[in-house]
Amino acid sequence: MKKPVKIALYVILGLFVVIQFYPDGIPRENPAVETVIEWPDQQAKDLFYAACADCHSNETKWPWYSYVAPAKWIVKNHVVDGRKKFNISAQGFGKDEHEAGEVIREDYMPMQGYTLLHSEANLNPDQKELLASTLEKMFGKEEH
Ligand code: HEC
Repeated sequence: MKKPVKIALYVILGLFVVIQFYPDGIPRENPAVETVIEWPDQQAKDLFYAACADCHSNETKWPWYSYVAPAKWIVKNHVVDGRKKFNISAQGFGKDEHEAGEVIREDYMPMQGYTLLHSEANLNPDQKELLASTLEKMFGKEEH
């Protein structure tokens, strides 16, 4: 290996080690679940837990890479921002809960990167329709 390449690799490795010691403030202790949800459909519930709950509930399963910088910062932002918009565990459910069906139909959710790492979050068209229509029954629908 050429010397400059070697030095560059050591620098990257060194930075990787150093950023691990940066405090992260990640809320891996999930906040309490404040709501009792009556799911009208068990399969839709399972799909929600497979494809949405990590970012839209207080029942997040924090993956191993949520302990490793820099990936952990991305995960943290997704969970914090996702819960702000729509959180089935919080009183009032956030502020965009009535868009839950729509974002599935538009293939906007689940987030693209998430489905690469969680194959069970890849929903087929029937599953999408079931989950979208169930969430609309539960949380309403955005009128345009
Ligand atoms: C990996 C984390 C993650 C997953 C999984 C995920 N979301 Fe999201 N979601 C986010 C983030 C982050 C935002 C806020 C940023 C944005 O709107 O792009 C968001 C926004 C939303 C919004 C608000 C949309 C808006 O425009 O205001 C809704 C509704 C939503 N998600 C529903 C879902 C549903 C339903 C699923 C499952 C099918 C899902 N999400 C899966 C992270 C996630």
